[in-house]
Amino acid sequence: MTQKILVLPGDGIGPEITAQASRILAACQARGLDVDVEEGLLGGAAYDVHGEPLPAETLEKAKAARAILLGAVGGPKWDKIEDLSKRPEKGLLGVRKQLGLFGNLRPAITYPQLADASSLKPELVAGLDIMIVRELTGGIYFGQPRGIEERDGERVGFNTYVYSESEIERIGRVAFEMAQKRGKKLCSVDKANVLEVTILWREVMERLAPEYPDVELSHMYVDNAAMQLVRAPKQFDVVVTGNMFGDILSDAAAMLTGSIGMLPSASLNESGQGMYEPCHGSAPDIAGQGIANPLATILSVAMMLRYSLDEPALAQRIEDAVGQVLDDGLRTADIASEGMRTVSTAEMGDAVLAAFEAR
Ligand code: IPM
Ligand code: MG
Repeated sequence: MTQKILVLPGDGIGPEITAQASRILAACQARGLDVDVEEGLLGGAAYDVHGEPLPAETLEKAKAARAILLGAVGGPKWDKIEDLSKRPEKGLLGVRKQLGLFGNLRPAITYPQLADASSLKPELVAGLDIMIVRELTGGIYFGQPRGIEERDGERVGFNTYVYSESEIERIGRVAFEMAQKRGKKLCSVDKANVLEVTILWREVMERLAPEYPDVELSHMYVDNAAMQLVRAPKQFDVVVTGNMFGDILSDAAAMLTGSIGMLPSASLNESGQGMYEPCHGSAPDIAGQGIANPLATILSVAMMLRYSLDEPALAQRIEDAVGQVLDDGLRTADIASEGMRTVSTAEMGDAVLAAFEAR
């Protein structure tokens, strides 16, 4: 059966990088991948046309799609929108929530070719392979009540950090299963020395552990986890944590690998429907210059093939093609280094496509 794919280029560098990823997707179609690809508007791009970041039409298309490929949303152009619910970021959060994409997989892998690009010493990061499993539809991002209101003559801002046992359990299971397929180590990150919600988080993780006897479960406070990530990152295999801690730690982990421009991500719901996007943002400062790194988005297509479309061979082919162009010395500006050839977004796309076809 033909499956639907929705491409949401979004804002900033989003259109440039998804254009390259779409070429790889087309190459997969030419090799028999049975998908129907359409585009939609999300974020600032949608706001400019429809006055809202997640138009009904986009949401309908998203619900009907087996998988979504997203570029990035947001930028200074829309930062002045006073109604927070109309900001581009709300479009992204809306898709996550409406589709129930609670399981966010954020790999941090150091490509051997790029170990020098990391801000840490190469020996600390060479061979790094961490999978951060971030809860994506709950926690303080979505908790009620929230707002800014007048109390005793001054304004007060508040959010609610809340998780139910069932929410913790389902992300816990994703993480334990991931650990079973990898290095069999799972570190759950919380702030159980201060926050009740994460005391419960820790309890639920402990309760699940006996069901996964082959996985070694450990716990770490988030402040320590931040420190350990930059001190000795290779101690981690799979990390599971809530929405906000995951947001922060995944940026740190991404940078260990040399460039956030290399890292894909997947956000999955219970039925394997997923949204795939680069970990980096819309980089408005370099938008339109044709210099953005398309590899994270191209690798997001690989994750899509693996997790939503059950096409591991095509996924591997893309990943190998990316490895090949790095071996060949091609670098976009963000990962540029001496002796390597600095290329544009489109040239990088050309090279990956050629390597994909040649394999
Ligand atoms: C991310 C981003 C988003 C988040 C923003 C754009 C809403 O930082 O995907 O990590 O905070 O989840
Ligand atoms: Mg983030």
